[in-house]
Amino acid sequence: MAIWMEGEDYVMNAAGQVESKRNAGYRAAGMVEDGMIVGLGTGSTVFFAMERLGERIAGGDLSIAGVPTSYQAALRARQYGIPLTSLDEHPEIDIAIDGADQVDPGLNLIKGRGAALLREKCVCDAAKRVLIVVDPTKVVDTLNAPVPVEVLPFASAAVFRRLALLGAVPVIRDGVKKDGPVVTDNGNFILDCDFGAVADPQHLEARIASIPGALECGLFSAYGEKIVVIVGEENNCRVISLR
Ligand code: 5RP
Repeated sequence: MAIWMEGEDYVMNAAGQVESKRNAGYRAAGMVEDGMIVGLGTGSTVFFAMERLGERIAGGDLSIAGVPTSYQAALRARQYGIPLTSLDEHPEIDIAIDGADQVDPGLNLIKGRGAALLREKCVCDAAKRVLIVVDPTKVVDTLNAPVPVEVLPFASAAVFRRLALLGAVPVIRDGVKKDGPVVTDNGNFILDCDFGAVADPQHLEARIASIPGALECGLFSAYGEKIVVIVGEENNCRVISLR
């Protein structure tokens, strides 16, 4: 694909990466319209979108309510003055803004570095339109990062075994500044599963979903038609969709 850039080969310095994230986040925030219910994803790129949404709200340009995908998103939204609501109150969402760890040309994603993938997928599913904000290092020809799987602690050994039978090398994610496993906002564990290159994301996502106790995985392969990927660059953005 001519417009495609190989993320693995894309080298950026830290300052350039921050500018790219800011440009992507700000572009996404500019696509939000007055009165919308907005899914608020988790992670450093979405922070920039929230920062800009907060500015637009403060400037009187926008009145919206956000559905946060994590405690982190909720805390940051409050800091930026974005009113919050819930999926209970709004089971259909106008637009969601979220980050990703990898994006392929079919707009399949790997998400979950921030361990928020379960709520992020619920919000993505509920949204009419999904803006994925990334820097160019996230753009790849083939998904190949470890796939995070949120696992019911009761079943974690059984799920570990089933994921290994699918060909993964699962590793239980440990906390930082916390001994022992990461416990998600939903009270579960995360298994990071290295499958190598994921040739068929839809098939793998379906196989993982069939394991009892595997509550959700970070492969997002069903939403390409409603996803718009905004790749921030240092001075611009590229906007990619399948339509
Ligand atoms: C959290 C996620 C994040 O959206 C993803 O990890 C991207 O984060 P960042 O924008 O900080 O690179 O999936 O679960």
